[in-house]
Amino acid sequence: MNTGQRVLLSREQISKRVIELGQQIAADLDEEANRGGGTGEGAAAGAAGPIVLIPVLTGALVFVADLIRAMPVAMSIKPVTLSSYPGKSTTSQGVTVQSGVPMDLRGARVLIVDDILDSGKTLGLLRRLVEAQQPRSVRIAVLLKKRKPMGRAEEVRVEYSGFEIDDEFVVGYGLDFDGIYRNLPDIVTLSGPSAA
Ligand code: IMP
Ligand code: MG
Repeated sequence: MNTGQRVLLSREQISKRVIELGQQIAADLDEEANRGGGTGEGAAAGAAGPIVLIPVLTGALVFVADLIRAMPVAMSIKPVTLSSYPGKSTTSQGVTVQSGVPMDLRGARVLIVDDILDSGKTLGLLRRLVEAQQPRSVRIAVLLKKRKPMGRAEEVRVEYSGFEIDDEFVVGYGLDFDGIYRNLPDIVTLSGPSAA
C-alpha cells in the first residue's frame, strides 16, 4: 500500500486516547445509572440496565473493538450498516440505511459509535432514528471530528470525540478509501494518484 501516506495520528496516540474515552464514557454511564434520573421510560433509580451500543459499520469496526475493552460496563452490541461514501467518492452522497437499526430502544440507554463526524448526515440520521423511539438517553462517540469552518450539512450533537482534525480525507484504523486501507494501524492522509 505505497500511496504517499502521511501519518496524522499514530497507533500509540490513538490507543492512549481511546482508553481515555472509554474510561470517561464508562464513568458518565455509571454516574447516570447511580443518579437514576433521565426522562424516558425505565428512568427510575436502579432501572439502568445494560447499555445498547450501536456501532456504525464498517468504519467504526476497529474503534469500537478497542473502545469497548476500555469500558467495563454491561452492554449489548447492535451494529448498523449505513453508507454515504460509495466507491471512490470522498464526499457524502446522501446517507442510506443498509441494515440493522434496532427498533426496540424505548427506555434504553444508547451509545452510538462511529469513526468520524464529517458532513453530519450519517449521525444526524441515526440520532433521529434512535431518538424517535424514546430511549432513556442517547450519546454519540466518534474517534475523529473534522473541523468545518463553513459549518456541516447537518449539525449533530456529539458527546465524545477523540481528536479534531482538519478537513482532509483520512484512512486507516477502520476508515477506508474505496473499501481498502481499513486495516492500517495508524490514521494517515493519502496523496498521489490513488486518492484522486
Ligand atoms: P458524514 O455523514 O459526512 O458525517 O460521514 C460520515 C461517514 O463518512 C463516516 O462514518 C465515514 O465512514 C465516512 N467518512 C467521512 N470522512 C471520511 C474520511 O476522511 N475518510 C474515510 N471515510 C470518511
Ligand atoms: Mg462510516
